[in-house]
Amino acid sequence: MNPMVSQLVKTFHGGSKCCLPVVLWSLAAWVLLLQAYTSLLRLPSHVPEPYSQWKNASHMFYHDAAEQTAEELDAEMIENLDDNAQEKVEKVEKWNKLEKSEDLEETFGAVAPVEPATTAKALEESKELLAQRRLAFLFPGKTSVIDPSKVNGSEYGYFYPGRTWLDSVGKPIQAHGGGVMYVAETQTFYWYGENKNGATIHPKQGTARVDVLGISCYSSKDLWTWNYKGLALKAERRDKSSDLYFLNVVERPKVIYNDNTKQYIMWMHIDNSNYSKASVGVAVSPNPEGPFEYVGSKRPHGCDSRDMTIFKDDDGQAYLIYSSSVNTELHIGPLTEDYMDIVERGSKKALVKQRREAPAVFKHRGMYYMVTSGCTSWAPNGALVHVAESMLGQWVTLGDPCVGGEEGFGSITFFSQGTFVLPLPGLENTFIFMADRWRPTDLRDSRYVWLPLTMDGPADTASDDEFEFPPWLRVSIHWYERWKLPEGWDNLHPVLTSL
Ligand code: GAL
Repeated sequence: MNPMVSQLVKTFHGGSKCCLPVVLWSLAAWVLLLQAYTSLLRLPSHVPEPYSQWKNASHMFYHDAAEQTAEELDAEMIENLDDNAQEKVEKVEKWNKLEKSEDLEETFGAVAPVEPATTAKALEESKELLAQRRLAFLFPGKTSVIDPSKVNGSEYGYFYPGRTWLDSVGKPIQAHGGGVMYVAETQTFYWYGENKNGATIHPKQGTARVDVLGISCYSSKDLWTWNYKGLALKAERRDKSSDLYFLNVVERPKVIYNDNTKQYIMWMHIDNSNYSKASVGVAVSPNPEGPFEYVGSKRPHGCDSRDMTIFKDDDGQAYLIYSSSVNTELHIGPLTEDYMDIVERGSKKALVKQRREAPAVFKHRGMYYMVTSGCTSWAPNGALVHVAESMLGQWVTLGDPCVGGEEGFGSITFFSQGTFVLPLPGLENTFIFMADRWRPTDLRDSRYVWLPLTMDGPADTASDDEFEFPPWLRVSIHWYERWKLPEGWDNLHPVLTSL
């Protein structure tokens, strides 16, 4: 026995050896406690993913940068993540300790000493393990992709939020920050999104980014098997003055169809690499697959505009919804009849001082609903759902729609940020919530989190001056690791088209 340990045993027990195991285990416990304490005081020297993603993401909360430095924001994010992570580290540590002590008991009997070195190693290993497990859960590897090109009957149609999703020829889908448009005549869905299939650049200052490649278009009949249709809008490699110049930012494209002009109109967030241009751009095509012709960009209503979406109402009126005043509020304004421009007067502010972005609007039984995120750049945060009786009316915040999953997972939108809510033709109370699980260390590997969104019953929150039942319903976004659309839902298309 280590002479120091033997001395300690003698000091505490007057030389009696009958309680030796107790003393040894207490000593081991002290060592473990000390290790755990010191580990709390520092981040691991090798910061494993996904911590490192947020650590490197010096741009996070970019839009608030005027108020906080990047370092302060990084620290805040790591601290927040650590609150959550620490608990999990402790769980893994406990489990590791148990495993170690059982192993040791088996090998050496009950009195086996635990060397501090073993403990330290176990701790490091447990942290690695935790990081690896978190990473494997959030960004599953190549062995568990959604691959419609190799469909096996029983797996057909299953959505696995977060898994790499391959297109009909086995390539990862590149349609981030996007939206889906349904063309009833051909019963075809079109998914438009940012093609981020390039190297992620981590500038010293500012946000992690990928050079603009363009806006991808995919088509599908079943929302699960997607055919790549190419770049519906291409980046510009030479003309530095173009909004689409590859060193700029082109994000969150959405497309709607104009029944009068018979044109497909794409709106998108146009910016420069430091997000100070803060404009919206518009492009047009007679075909849903493009190519779209770029028309130009502007600051809507003379205001800065970053995350945005468009919404086409049943009566054909379309709206632009965008985060403005450095993301402190949303602005909502009608588009012109041809959807190619903004009506400069008559816009409304919504969610003032609430600091919301990534708006996704949908309509249900005459009420307008909108899911938004907080403003934390690529890092996930809590979603909120809002409701209004008209697009330009008063928007009331109902609360966080996310339900289920492990504790804390829903409060960060299941580690994702919303981008679109897709109504399902023929299904009245079910929508798909489309979100992005950003991966700022390698943005091209950001994942899609698609989940069922249901209208469930009376809302949780009623405004104070409501005496009647509120006219809105609770919106729920449900976590499922694996889910599929109701059997036969696609047979319902004809019902819709014949209306
Ligand atoms: C987010 C925004 C994304 C992207 C990112 C860049 O806040 O929702 O679309 O702009 O910031 O940091």
